[in-house]
Amino acid sequence: ALLASVMFSFVLRGKLSGGGAQGRTQTVLKLAHCLSTEHPVHQAMEYMKTHLEEISDGRMTVDIYPGSVLGSETQCIEMLQNGSLAMTKTSAAAMENFIPAMAVFGLPYIFRDADHYWKVLNGDIGRALLRKGETRFLYGLCYYDAGSRNFYSRGSPIRTPEDLEGLKIRVMNSETAIDMVKALGGAPTPIAWGELYSALAQGTVDGAENNPPSFISNRHYEVCKHFSLNGHTRIPDILMMSTRARDKLTPQQREWVQQAADASSEFQRALWKKETVAALKKAREEGVNIYTVDTAVFAARVQPMLRQVENPEVRELLDRIPEVH
Ligand code: PAF
Repeated sequence: ALLASVMFSFVLRGKLSGGGAQGRTQTVLKLAHCLSTEHPVHQAMEYMKTHLEEISDGRMTVDIYPGSVLGSETQCIEMLQNGSLAMTKTSAAAMENFIPAMAVFGLPYIFRDADHYWKVLNGDIGRALLRKGETRFLYGLCYYDAGSRNFYSRGSPIRTPEDLEGLKIRVMNSETAIDMVKALGGAPTPIAWGELYSALAQGTVDGAENNPPSFISNRHYEVCKHFSLNGHTRIPDILMMSTRARDKLTPQQREWVQQAADASSEFQRALWKKETVAALKKAREEGVNIYTVDTAVFAARVQPMLRQVENPEVRELLDRIPEVH
């Protein structure tokens, strides 16, 4: 069973005790992601697992492998494509290498606020983007809130784009993130999330950018004592499923998976708000200086980058997003 669970995206397991599925086989979907178990998005996936077990009366469950144990976000997406993993939770930023239109989420200052962002995610644009990867074996189940991303640093604070001059800033594996940090004057350095704590501790990079719950759950506050609320991007997390694994499910099983994913997304949105407040409080308690900055100055610096977007699909989305109300 151990070998099977390592090699295959899902396994059938004999259910030994308890629950309505007693004596029947159970379909077990394998899900891997890079976050620590303290992260609110991990908690949402635990919620999804429990909900799936409940609505399927124990016929289905999910085995969750957190903390990059099966690989980086990019590696997990590739495992979905070759069918060795059933599900992963990834940032939409890592998805842009597989579904180029997803690059739109990495563009800075395109959402008016959290409400606008969720209207886009839950509307035609967001739904169409979840379906866009099917020809590449990638089926988007739902979005999770990943708030807004902000710069944080070890040595000196980043309160204006000028403060980024000469600083090595860790970015995700995303051309858009690289272009954005360059546009703001910093030196972008792509590093996998699982390797970032040591890269910060060793000074390989001077800073990074993320939302407060990620900053706290991976203990980056131990190394970085400056956190600026500049909110350059809102890049959602996505729960992705391999179409190879999905195709093996019955229509009823697919419906259960979708229902559990949708319920976990609702649950996570509420949790996210609380956890963001708690993360900022914890950061202050840990001696991190939190800066309110003039975001208009950052936004002005990236306008040329937005005008230069070449991909026609991304261009079109960029024009449609402000029209969503
Ligand atoms: O910065 C990243 O790599 C991602 O935002 C994270 C924290 C792994 C969530 O997808």
